[in-house]
Amino acid sequence: MSAAINLREYRAINFTDKLSLFSEHWSQRVIAEMNDYQFKLAKVKGDFIWHDHADTDEVFIVIDGRLRIDFRDGAVHLKAGEMFVIPKGVEHKPYSEEEASILLVEPRGVVNTGAEESERTRANDVWI
Ligand code: NI
Repeated sequence: MSAAINLREYRAINFTDKLSLFSEHWSQRVIAEMNDYQFKLAKVKGDFIWHDHADTDEVFIVIDGRLRIDFRDGAVHLKAGEMFVIPKGVEHKPYSEEEASILLVEPRGVVNTGAEESERTRANDVWI
């Protein structure tokens, strides 16, 4: 089902409300689109897998909690209210000790595990 918005309703998209609709970790849900880009909420905990996105940068915005993104040569630590842009082609592995809520911004069609097929791979166009 498309969640195309009826703009005449002029309703805010509320992160807290949307986050209350799912609980699975590492399973992103689309909440909006802008041109060809999607805004995806995810709850994360523990380790993700190493992967990269050959064709696109990827934006992580932390809404709640703390997120560490590991790179082969370092790491960035993010807390609520902070964001980071991962350049395309750069291997990364998100990690969160406690549950964190994040907003991803990336082009429609990007797979969460990049080219790595794994048990972490999820459908990439699930709207809430
Ligand atoms: Ni990624």
